[in-house]
Amino acid sequence: MKLESYLFIIAIVMGKDSTAQNFNLENWMRDLPAQLKDVPLIYLAIPGSHDSMTYGITRASTLAPDAEPILHRLYPLFRGTIIRWTITQAIDTKQQLLIGIRYFDLRLATKKDENHYFFTHGLYAEEISKPLQQIRDFVDSHPGEVVILDLQHFYGFQPEDHQRLMRYLLNIFGAKLIPRQIDLQSITLNSLSRLRQQVVVVYRNQSVSAISEFWQSQLLPSPWPQQDRTAGLVNFLHNITRRPGIGFVHQAVLTPTPKFIILRWISNLREKCAVPVKNEVLPKLTELAPGPPLAKGVNQFAPVNVVIADFVDLDNAIFPRTIIELNLKLLRNTDLVYHNYG
Ligand SMILES: *[C@@H]1O[C@H](CO)[C@@H](O)[C@H](O)[C@H]1NC(C)=O
Ligand SMILES: *[C@@H]1O[C@H](CO)[C@@H](O)[C@H](O)[C@H]1NC(C)=O
Repeated sequence: MKLESYLFIIAIVMGKDSTAQNFNLENWMRDLPAQLKDVPLIYLAIPGSHDSMTYGITRASTLAPDAEPILHRLYPLFRGTIIRWTITQAIDTKQQLLIGIRYFDLRLATKKDENHYFFTHGLYAEEISKPLQQIRDFVDSHPGEVVILDLQHFYGFQPEDHQRLMRYLLNIFGAKLIPRQIDLQSITLNSLSRLRQQVVVVYRNQSVSAISEFWQSQLLPSPWPQQDRTAGLVNFLHNITRRPGIGFVHQAVLTPTPKFIILRWISNLREKCAVPVKNEVLPKLTELAPGPPLAKGVNQFAPVNVVIADFVDLDNAIFPRTIIELNLKLLRNTDLVYHNYG
């Protein structure tokens, strides 16, 4: 492409920038500027939810196999407090999709004497079939949207549970699945729309190797910041390095330690972790941009791909709105994108 064409694109895009706030969150991928639909999915900014399914935890929830041993003594006494510090999302799967969330962080557990699998975060949340069906229904009715499901912890699983769960996922999503490939850079919204593929399943257990429809863990690194202060979290996120050719998850989340919780006993994770991230960390994330990783030293910070947070609905969904808008920065750098991966 000639320099004039770049300037032309940039001019159009600058005009568009001012309307960014009007992104239709329900169909934001469909509505991205056409040039961005040729950018590899791993180089787009995609908002996701952390511990996506904890909205399903209620006072009726029982302890799951991933609960800390001490909770077996504390939970009967302090049920309300423990629940307040366990729930990380207020709105359900369908509502998360409608406000633009396109990545789900899924942790699963078996339950004694039950044939089904459940979402979990120390306490049992919903059985998996209803939320997964909501995702299937959403992609069917929103052909421009792509959803990433990251199955990352499996508690109480035997090898045959993996086989059964993987068959179940193949059954629900079938031809909608985006199989893993050697060159992830060839996967763009345009290439997917031609194939009518809309769902990535990352399956973080070695039993995935037999199933070519699913992605292995190393295709989407997701390092855990393990911070309970915003300053430490910002430092962690600024310190990230990325490799070209694979995706990445920036975890914009604080993790309360037991001491942190005891000092804030009557509060909850929303007020003491999610709100500070929104107020102090999200503004820092606007300094980041999607795109391919560049040689060290060229760019100050590693580019973003998936970015996740707790309570993604806070402040009229400011988190997904902010992350989605980062994609417009790519338009000011289309030369970068096209020269490297056009
Ligand atoms: C994968 O699952 C099997 C069976 O549940 C388990 O033994 C193994 O440790 C898991 N691997 C990883 C890396 O978690
Ligand atoms: C990376 O982290 C270390 C230790 O946490 C910190 O001293 C350093 O300043 C960070 N580097 C950048 C570039 O932020």
